[in-house]
Amino acid sequence: MTDLLTPVLSANWADERAWKITNYERTGGYQGLRKALGRTPADVMGTVKDAGLRGRGGAGFPTGMKWSFVPQDNPNPKYLVVNADESEPGTCKDMPLMMASPHTLVEGVIIASYAIGCEAAFIYVRGEVVHVVRRLQQAVREAYSAGYIGKNVLGSGYSLDVVVHAGAGAYICGEETALLDSLEGRRGQPRLRPPFPAVAGLYACPTVVNNVESIASVPSIIANGAEWFASMGTEKSKGMTLYSLSGHVQRPGQFEAPLGITLRQLIELSGGVREGHELKFWTPGGSSTPILTAEHLDIPLDYEGAAAAGTMLGTKALQVFDETTSVVRTTLRWVEFYKHESCGKCTPCREGSWWLVQLLQRFEAGTAVEGDIEKMLDLCDNIGGKSFCALADGAVACVTSAVKHFRSEFEAGYTTPAWELFPYERSALF
Ligand code: NAI
Repeated sequence: MTDLLTPVLSANWADERAWKITNYERTGGYQGLRKALGRTPADVMGTVKDAGLRGRGGAGFPTGMKWSFVPQDNPNPKYLVVNADESEPGTCKDMPLMMASPHTLVEGVIIASYAIGCEAAFIYVRGEVVHVVRRLQQAVREAYSAGYIGKNVLGSGYSLDVVVHAGAGAYICGEETALLDSLEGRRGQPRLRPPFPAVAGLYACPTVVNNVESIASVPSIIANGAEWFASMGTEKSKGMTLYSLSGHVQRPGQFEAPLGITLRQLIELSGGVREGHELKFWTPGGSSTPILTAEHLDIPLDYEGAAAAGTMLGTKALQVFDETTSVVRTTLRWVEFYKHESCGKCTPCREGSWWLVQLLQRFEAGTAVEGDIEKMLDLCDNIGGKSFCALADGAVACVTSAVKHFRSEFEAGYTTPAWELFPYERSALF
């Protein structure tokens, strides 16, 4: 089974001091940068395009294509911003990556900046994860001292500054345009797109915003070539990626494997669902991706496979829930999160998420009345796709998919509280 794993990003995570620059260099670190600097920026960008790398933050937008949208004839500065504000419930891949191997990200930042022609890059990290912020700051300091960042990088004539910026811990600041507002020193709220950041981003200048894992994948692509990367994964979803397994499995954790692996295989790798229990439902990519059931254990976990199953691959945060879990209660917890994190800029999300919580509380308490399911679905219809950003879409995706797969559990909410139907969960919680 373990031959299904392809550790590249996570190759040295077992080494407690993999985060030190000397250890990173000893295992081939910064070779990709040396190669990149010997080539033209356009050539480096071409390799990332040919590799077929798609954004690992959730949406799967082709990374090389995004880079190519940056207008090279624009006289304004260009920026690279790494979105390290990972906060989707269940999503937990970027933080371990930055803790265990921050230089993989830093090297990727330098190569990507070189490719798009920018001289200032930012890594925007969640402010609460102080240990990650410090580790990144340390890595950036080490890279400056070693001549990988700063004036005239490795004598190439190319200069770059990298800033680690700590956010204040708002989920909305993971939305790329809210992140840019926050980085500019304003309250983080989404902007209308287009224009996309690649054209008008930070300080209205062309800006590439990429997820941590996307950028961290770049050094290995440059070091080993586009073909090497494209030989992993499926036809349209190429390469290796981090799958984060959490919840009711024997050994939760990070599993780096080619895109297209199945949840059945990943659960086997993690030792199975916890003893004596069976899988009930799961999320492919955090709570904003529609939930799936045991029927979907064999769908390929790539962008196309997830879409064909009526969901999204998202952040590959596979949260596994067994039969002791109430779908109603889980959905309520997720929607409470979205309600709390809604920035309030647009009405459907601000008001709608509040109303969704009210309705879900009734289902949880067993006090819902006939027609509440239809009311809730109608509400979802008036929130999803009608808001500024994807936060609201995420909030409704878990509700509509939960009703689709487990309608009878919501119907039970007309008479019976969730804690009576799921006493095990109650005993575990209280
Ligand atoms: P999106 O599909 O609108 O955009 C994806 C990326 O492609 C963006 O960087 C956007 O600027 C770029 N892009 C798209 N069309 C473009 C065009 N025509 N020209 C130039 N650039 C273009 O998705 P969005 O709203 O940025 O992100 C939603 C995703 O975020 C969801 O799939 C969700 O899974 C994920 N997510 C991840 C979280 C995390 O903690 N990592 C948290 C919440 C959501």
